[in-house]
Amino acid sequence: MSEKMYLYPAWTRLWHAINAILCLALIVTGFSMLYSNPDRFVVNFSSAVAIHNVAGVLLTINYFVFFVGNMFTSNGKHYKLALKGLGQRLFLQMRYYALGYFKGQESPYPVTTEQKFNPLQQVSYVGVMYGIMFVLFVTGWGLLFPEFILKKLLGFSGIFLTAQLHVIMGFLIFVFLFVHLYVSTMGVTVASNFKSIVNGWQEKH
Ligand code: HEM
Repeated sequence: MSEKMYLYPAWTRLWHAINAILCLALIVTGFSMLYSNPDRFVVNFSSAVAIHNVAGVLLTINYFVFFVGNMFTSNGKHYKLALKGLGQRLFLQMRYYALGYFKGQESPYPVTTEQKFNPLQQVSYVGVMYGIMFVLFVTGWGLLFPEFILKKLLGFSGIFLTAQLHVIMGFLIFVFLFVHLYVSTMGVTVASNFKSIVNGWQEKH
């Protein structure tokens, strides 16, 4: 018999939907600029630049909603990493994803209202939201206002280094998205996590 838990308050669902749409737009336009040619990749160069700039600014504003929301609501507790025993918890979760899940075993970290993320989700969300996204913004805003970038750093052009870092972080988000989508299918049913990030309610075994 399955019960339900309310895990995703309205503001997180709205933040997540906007975040997902903007990230997809940024990925498509980012690749279009990276692999631009005189004709076009997916979006032509000048439209790609314009859309990328606007989506980047909107993503930053949306990120502040996430940051402040996590500071002042109970959703923030899910992002507090307990370092003690983390290696062991990650190992158990990885073993479950690689083996246990396919043998129909119970998850070692079942979802509760106190702990909605398993250790692997928690580490990846903290890393993406407070690490990668942060560097992505700083470098993105730097490229929007290049006059603030150091001209030279260790003999390299400051703009070159900023652009490289920006592309690497963008690529990591792209890779994260594939893993995120795959892992999101490993809930109570294949669709249950997707339903919960839309309606807020998570099924329980
Ligand atoms: C098509 C795009 C996306 C889909 C379909 C999707 C799907 C999901 C699903 C099903 C969940 C709920 C399961 C869970 O809590 O782990 C979730 C949560 C989450 N996703 Fe995504 N996602 C997408 C894009 C993104 C992107 C681009 C990011 C970050 C750059 C992201 C970051 C997160 C975070 C941080 C949570 C947890 C939110 C919270 O409860 O605090 N997602 N996503």
